[in-house]
Amino acid sequence: MSNSYITGSFEGHIDFINYQDLVEGASKVIPGPSFGYIHSGAEDLYTYDQNVTAFNHKLIVPHVLMDVEQPDTSFTFDNDKLTAPIIMAPVAAHALAHEKAEEASAKGVSDFGTIYTASSFASRSLEDIRAAGTTSPLWFQFYMSKDDGINLNIIDIAERNGAKAIILTADATVGGNRETDRRTGFTFPVPLPIVKEYQSGVGQTMDTVYNSAKQKLSPKDVEFIASHSKLPVYVKGVQAREDVNRSLDAGAKGIWVSNHGGRQLDGGPAAFDSLQYVAEAVDGRVPIVFDSGVRRGQHIFKALASGADLVAIGRPAIYGLSLGGSTGTREVFEHLKHELEIVMQLAGTQTIEDIRNTTLRNNNFI
Ligand code: FNR
Ligand code: LAC
Repeated sequence: MSNSYITGSFEGHIDFINYQDLVEGASKVIPGPSFGYIHSGAEDLYTYDQNVTAFNHKLIVPHVLMDVEQPDTSFTFDNDKLTAPIIMAPVAAHALAHEKAEEASAKGVSDFGTIYTASSFASRSLEDIRAAGTTSPLWFQFYMSKDDGINLNIIDIAERNGAKAIILTADATVGGNRETDRRTGFTFPVPLPIVKEYQSGVGQTMDTVYNSAKQKLSPKDVEFIASHSKLPVYVKGVQAREDVNRSLDAGAKGIWVSNHGGRQLDGGPAAFDSLQYVAEAVDGRVPIVFDSGVRRGQHIFKALASGADLVAIGRPAIYGLSLGGSTGTREVFEHLKHELEIVMQLAGTQTIEDIRNTTLRNNNFI
């Protein structure tokens, strides 16, 4: 099975006004089963939908006469100056969206100037991703193997390729009930080279791929990674305040608040509704990354004001990739940065720090 599952992908400027335009465009260029796999979520899509609507649960009260102009979205994190605190979430198999796959998305994120998180289930090797995204800080998202020897090999690959953090995804020990994939019969049409020692990927359903990874995760797995790598370990998929200490006591150095974009447990809270509780439990001890449902600059503002240090996007970036390759990917980040700048100006916040010091108003009208 060739790596170029899609051929003739466009590389260049994309015209769009908002996320819905990206969805509509991507639905025309990504083959049906793959689009369904990317776009959809679990079961009745309650959590999936709540991820976006929950941002209306808190309001940004605009401030005037605040002497603000040209708001500055730049943010230094871990000694890297980012163009904005907006980062690439780990998303499997970018080859489903564009023939240049992660090489294009990594270049686009690098050209924008922020962190790129490569998925264990990427359709390109970490070497190729690193070569394409030369100036971006690279993070590696880890789906552990059941075999610790393989896990040590993968950790070594991540370190050799200059990864600055390992993101242990803990909310996908089994696949969410994704009915769209069952209806379309989706299987991966491309290899997953990083995990080839335990899963080829080709012709596999998401459930089969998940089942081949380690499913019985515990704090011992955080300890395992932390004891075999000098890289900070983040736990991704935290939504309960009780899981914060479970993670930090095991050696985690970061928390990633997420519900996997509504792809896992349906019937759970919107990730944004969980953020404030997790942030209270973290209490400034380690960085917090937030994702799930981010579609607007105001969503990024609200997440930062609710305790996130960094905000990650998944689907919007993949749709930009599908429509314009590295340029399209970069333009999606630039679009969200521009929306954030507008919100910052109207909210009277000049810097990211000002946002983090902003108190949102609970929306008592919904
Ligand atoms: C994901 N996500 C994900 N997460 C992870 O830890 N490892 C992975 O390999 C993947 N793969 C993946 C594939 C696709 C197609 C999607 C849409 C998502 C979840 C991802 O990191 C992130 O949590 C969500 O995508 C965030 O929600 P939005 O921005 O897509 O709404
Ligand atoms: C998904 C896996 C790859 O959400 O995390 O499809």
